[in-house]
Amino acid sequence: MQRPASMASTWNLDRIPLESIDLQQVRCREDLFYLATAASFIESGSDLYTRNLIRYCTGETELVDWLQNRWEPEEMRHGRALSAYVRHVWPKFDWERAFAAFFEDYSRQCTLDEFEPTPGLEMAARCVIETGTATFYQALAEHAAEEPVLAGLASRIRADEIDHYKHFYRYFRQYRAGQPPGRLRVLTALGRRVLEARRGDAECALWHAFTVRQPEAASDKASFQALNARLGQQLKRHYPVTMAVKMLLKPLDLPTALTRAVQGPLIRAARWALR
Ligand SMILES: [Fe+2]
Ligand SMILES: [Fe+2]
Repeated sequence: MQRPASMASTWNLDRIPLESIDLQQVRCREDLFYLATAASFIESGSDLYTRNLIRYCTGETELVDWLQNRWEPEEMRHGRALSAYVRHVWPKFDWERAFAAFFEDYSRQCTLDEFEPTPGLEMAARCVIETGTATFYQALAEHAAEEPVLAGLASRIRADEIDHYKHFYRYFRQYRAGQPPGRLRVLTALGRRVLEARRGDAECALWHAFTVRQPEAASDKASFQALNARLGQQLKRHYPVTMAVKMLLKPLDLPTALTRAVQGPLIRAARWALR
């Protein structure tokens, strides 16, 4: 797939070179359709989560300012970019209808009860979510390598997600300096979010993409589970395990020697679990 060399470095999430996509080649890629569509739903629903998080963090002026003026606009831009991609490549798919169904479902799950007991712990939990998104887009960029526009989109979004991680980590450190939460509580918050990340949003998004694209199979849970498993297997091959472990260990603030000692076995264990 050829495109002008200048385009490779100059485009951004507001100006995507959709015209250089080889539609014949991409349209038949079921995996890319579902991965891009599910991601577009979650990103496009992030304003709901932001509103809840802002309410939860009321009084934290600097944090609220960053959430409103940087974080939310960037997450919504991810949603717009991905949905523009999906609509361009698969115009017959009714994105609006599928997203509306997803959002109705998602907004029921996304309530203030989901937050950690203190803002500091919530910042640690947010580091897990941003680790999840950054590593997902890294894997998607590798998986979509044969389709440079989607790969480029994923790489650009990944850079934003890493930046979000850094911000949440910085706010976590500020809270920790004022009121240390203790490693066990941080570990509990991190662990809870890691476990939650295994179900929830992604499966919900995938389900609504599936029922609109294949309405005839909507009652066939087995074929949905098979699709879910297939996509998981495909992404696992590219999952950046080392990056994930390093990002997840950081909020625990372990002594350097201990971090070095646990990092290797954790990476090996994660690789084994992902086989
Ligand atoms: Fe995002
Ligand atoms: Fe993010």
